[in-house]
Amino acid sequence: MSLKEALHWRSATKSYNGKIIEKDKIEQILEAVRMAPSSSGMQPFKVFVITNKELREKLQPIACQQQQIIQASHILVFAAWDEYTTERVDSFFEFSNQVRNLPSSATDDYRLNLLEMLNKKTKDEHFTNASLQTYIALGFGLLAAADLKIDATPLEGFDNKAVDELLNLSGQNLKSTVMMALGYKDEETDWWSKLDRVRRPNEELFVEIK
Ligand SMILES: Cc1cc2nc3c(=O)[nH]c(=O)nc-3n(C[C@H](O)[C@H](O)[C@H](O)COP(=O)(O)O)c2cc1C
Repeated sequence: MSLKEALHWRSATKSYNGKIIEKDKIEQILEAVRMAPSSSGMQPFKVFVITNKELREKLQPIACQQQQIIQASHILVFAAWDEYTTERVDSFFEFSNQVRNLPSSATDDYRLNLLEMLNKKTKDEHFTNASLQTYIALGFGLLAAADLKIDATPLEGFDNKAVDELLNLSGQNLKSTVMMALGYKDEETDWWSKLDRVRRPNEELFVEIK
């Protein structure tokens, strides 16, 4: 499928048929999530990949009873760092230098400047910044799914605090931001995919500055 076809094929699936996604396909979608760019490359989040039935039954009532939570093959919960602590930042740069076989001093200037900038911001500002990174990963995952003809739904309709509690996210210094359901749509009942995709026209969306 071409990029254009994938973009027009996908829709935010409302109803799944329960079919499980093949292992290699879910791995490719997770790889797209993993390879998404993030600010300074820190990937300040974790992604919970949920297939467990009992957990999903607990998730559904705190996610506006959305049926995708139960019917889909996989539910991804994106959870952002609640704060860019010095420890988290240092540990990322240490890891990055190890991967690139560089001495830790290679990134010292950059790391210290970044820490100085972060220290001027509040914890809420840290979380807002980290949460934005999860949406880029979500976008990569959505497009990868479409490319593989896997149906997907981005989901923000849930009670973040309740989800944080259910997954013990505060114990991990994380906060939920967004979810993604993945699976195969129920062709008969997924009314949404039968509607035209609605997008504002180019001339309204894009402002050309030549
Ligand atoms: C961040 C975000 C949160 C969303 N939350 C939900 C949701 O909770 N439930 C749902 O059914 N659709 C949800 N959607 C889907 C949007 O309503 C949908 O993408 C939009 O109406 C455009 O439709 P399309 O994606 O099918 O083209 C969400 C989309 C985004 C990007």
